[in-house]
Amino acid sequence: MINREQVQEILQPIQDPETGKSLIELQRIRDIVVKDSSVRLSVTYSSEEQREQLNGQIRELLQAIGAEDVHIRMVPAVNSAQQEPDDREKLTKGHAAGMQNNQLLSKNSGVHFIAVASGKGGVGKSTVTVNLATALARQGKKVGLIDADIYGFSVPDMMGIEEGPSVTDEGVIIPVERFGVKVMSMGFFIRENSPVVWRGPMLGKMLRQFFEDVAWGDLDYMLLDLPPGTGDVALDVHQMIPQSKEIIVTTPHATAAFVAARAGAMAIQTEHEILGVVENMAYYSCSNCGEKDYVFGRGGGGMLAETLHTELLGQLPLGGPDNLTADPDFSPSVYRAGTESANIYSDIANKISSKCEGTTES
Ligand SMILES: Nc1ncnc2c1ncn2[C@@H]1O[C@H](COP(=O)(O)OP(=O)(O)OP(=O)(O)O)[C@@H](O)[C@H]1O
Ligand SMILES: [Mg+2]
Repeated sequence: MINREQVQEILQPIQDPETGKSLIELQRIRDIVVKDSSVRLSVTYSSEEQREQLNGQIRELLQAIGAEDVHIRMVPAVNSAQQEPDDREKLTKGHAAGMQNNQLLSKNSGVHFIAVASGKGGVGKSTVTVNLATALARQGKKVGLIDADIYGFSVPDMMGIEEGPSVTDEGVIIPVERFGVKVMSMGFFIRENSPVVWRGPMLGKMLRQFFEDVAWGDLDYMLLDLPPGTGDVALDVHQMIPQSKEIIVTTPHATAAFVAARAGAMAIQTEHEILGVVENMAYYSCSNCGEKDYVFGRGGGGMLAETLHTELLGQLPLGGPDNLTADPDFSPSVYRAGTESANIYSDIANKISSKCEGTTES
């Protein structure tokens, strides 16, 4: 069995060609996680040539000590904010350049904005956002996803994204694409485990830059994973995109639905159209007999939809995806096409396209 120290030791001789120092010591090889014979780590590279070379060299060395499954997150040095002492400044530099070629926020951009909200945390907003985005992309839609949970970003990990975005010389950020969805998250610009201490106005500013400085290309849908609650960021989203529609996520428990109603009330107050309610963790499906067990109670989603005068778009069962870490399409939270949950997300995506575009995909 391999351990972290062994990985560090075997990679220690890899040097930065300019300074001759070890990449491990320079912390350019970092975030090493070892589980059984699977190794994950991040590497910062400074040129395309070096990217290839490091990737090959690290893989070879790790395989030599018995690693069967190697995931390397390649992070561009010059272009990544990860190496800058002040990430915010780096992003601000790109501001002017991106703004000129991005009309995303203009009223007639033709992009359908959908914010995914809930009254309280942990009900599955991010899970719903990533799966709905993937379902829309599987139906051939051009989809973007902004992880607007700047304090508690989770989308890159949930989708199994290992690469960071790149930035052009003009300072325009190219989003990372996963399962056909273009993704932007604060998680790409912050080193793992470093605390995020920004306050109100900074949050809004970051969010605006995600709209304006990112080369999203043509989009049909832009999904936003909102932070829990009804605070500043939700209001910022309203101010930036008054045309945004909303989906409210709840669990089946009556109290959860009551709390979620607050998020719904805010959507109504800010004149955001509510597309519907998604009830997550609605039941447990017995793998032997297929019977549904309503472990968290019943009816919260329906009740909430009624209160908000909208429809219940779908009910998702309890249970994560059964993806394996060795699978190149591995992601901790995106259900594989054709599974029970993926099919429910596909139905929800159909309902959403028919509501937004007046069409239904088969
Ligand atoms: N249907 C489900 N079955 C089992 N686990 C689930 C389901 N949906 C979500 N989870 C798990 O519940 C946890 C919370 O989900 P998620 O992060 O999507 O919620 P959230 O509302 O975005 O939370 P936060 O408010 O912290 O942003 C995660 O660990 C997720 O994997
Ligand atoms: Mg979340």
